[in-house]
Order: sequence, then structure tokens, then C-alpha cells
Amino acid sequence: MRLCSLLLLCLAAYLSSSYVISPSNMWTKLILTHHWPSTFCGMEHPVCHPNISYWTLHGLWPDKGMECNSSWHFNSSQIEDLLPDMKRSWPDLLSPLSTGFWKYEWHKHGTCAAKAESLNSQHKYFSKALELYHKVDLDSILTKFDIIPSANYYKLSQIEGVIENFYSVKPKIQCAQPSKNAAFQILGQIEICFNSEFTLVDCEKHLTTTPKGHFDNEIAVEKTSGFSVCDPDMPVYYPTPS
Ligand SMILES: *[C@@H]1O[C@H](CO)[C@@H](O)[C@H](O)[C@H]1NC(C)=O
Ligand SMILES: *[C@@H]1O[C@H](CO)[C@@H](O)[C@H](O)[C@H]1NC(C)=O
Ligand SMILES: *[C@@H]1O[C@H](CO)[C@@H](O)[C@H](O)[C@H]1NC(C)=O
Repeated sequence: MRLCSLLLLCLAAYLSSSYVISPSNMWTKLILTHHWPSTFCGMEHPVCHPNISYWTLHGLWPDKGMECNSSWHFNSSQIEDLLPDMKRSWPDLLSPLSTGFWKYEWHKHGTCAAKAESLNSQHKYFSKALELYHKVDLDSILTKFDIIPSANYYKLSQIEGVIENFYSVKPKIQCAQPSKNAAFQILGQIEICFNSEFTLVDCEKHLTTTPKGHFDNEIAVEKTSGFSVCDPDMPVYYPTPS
């Protein structure tokens, strides 16, 4: 009897601890999302600032979980040393002087990323995002291999090819549809993925675990026009900054 209840206790303890640190709760991949300001602003954002001519950060998103801790408030004084880089690399295109975009990204994605010890503070999360963004240096790589904003169209395979050759992993490339029956699509977002050790890994074209997880609903261009995975058979327009 004693032994039996002891075993049960142990089993219960084991089960509850394994529930708390359950691998199924934990993200395994981080998605570093870049957006192209002209495309973002070109859609339906009259107050947007499309004069930025480089790929900027949209976010660093774990592949599992959203809004994991609503009581963990964003506090910009904890990332004060990062602010100059944040303003340049992760600008709020709709409201350049506001910290609202970072606050939103922290609540929605950062609090989930923070389940990993390596990202369990606002400073760790934002500085890692900036570090990965600079390490990837997507903007320079595209330019170096002649993927530049142009009046001519690209094939999706050209853009994908440059990224796959250089980084040896598959990106996820998203486009905006200018209108329902348009004959071309507009390059909008490029995602580069990492594992929990921050090593580059393939992105999946479609996330199966959290179908809504890779859309930021606050970003109207995604909600109304719906960035979606680019169509491999449709010409890709890479607009010059206006
Ligand atoms: C873009 O334009 C806005 C408003 O005109 C200005 O405040 C901002 O400094 C400009 N940004 C760049 C990178 O030129
Ligand atoms: C949520 O964040 C608060 C503030 O940082 C922290 O005290 C609390 O432990 C967190 N809760 C969980 C479940 O991680
Ligand atoms: C924000 O962080 C700073 C620096 O850690 C701290 O002094 C301040 O109390 C925090 N503010 C809030 C509202 O938590």
C-alpha cells in the first residue's frame, strides 16, 4: 500500500513536471521575418514611410505559441542601449516615433520566445533579433546577387535560388496581390528560420502547428490584402522605394 501510493505520488510528480516543461509547449524554430517597406506601405497605408530602401525587421517569431504572458509588460528602458539600432533595423513604418510595434511584437511573440532561457528577457529577445538580422544581412546578399528593386519582373525561383545558394536553407517568401486578377505579385516578406541553437534551418512553406501564428493581425496589409506564399508561376515585382 505504502509503496503503491509512493509510486503514484512519483508518477503524479513526474507527469506534472513533464507537463510544465512539455516539449509540445516549447517552440523549436524561430522565424526571422523581414519586410520590404515599399510593399508594406504601398498597399493601404497613407501614413506610412516608404522612403526606407532596405529590408527591415518585422519580427522574430517562435513557431509555437502567441501571447504567452500578458502580465509581462514591454518596457523600453530595458532595451535602451538597443534603441538606435531598433529604430534603424526594426522601424515602425506606420509610426516611426512610437514604440508600439515593438510592444506588440513582444507581447505576441517575445513572451513565447522567452520560454527558452536564451531569450528569457526583453533585452535578450530584442538583442538576439537584431543580432540575427545583422548576421543574415539579407539586404546586402540580395543586392550582391543582383536581386534589386526594378521595373522588370523576377521569377520567384531567381530570388529563392539566391537565398538558398547563399544560406543553404530554404526561406519562405511572401507576396502581396495588387488585385484579384493581377498578372503579377509584389515581393513583400522574406522569412529565414533558425533552430533553438540559432543555427539556420529550412523554413516550412506552410506552418501546420499554428496556422494563424505567422500572421500579424495588427498589420493591416496582412489582414486585408493577405500576404501569402508567392506563386512560383507568377512574375514577381520588387518595387523601388517611392
Ligand atoms: C522618411 O521620411 C520621414 C518623413 O518624411 C522622415 O521623418 C524620415 O527621417 C525619413 N527616413 C529616412 C530613412 O529617410
Ligand atoms: C509572466 O511574467 C511575469 C513578469 O515578468 C513573471 O513574473 C511571471 O513569472 C511570468 N509567468 C509565467 C507563467 O512565465
Ligand atoms: C522598466 O525598467 C526599468 C529598468 O529596468 C525599471 O527601473 C522600471 O521600474 C521599469 N518600469 C516599469 C513600469 O516596470
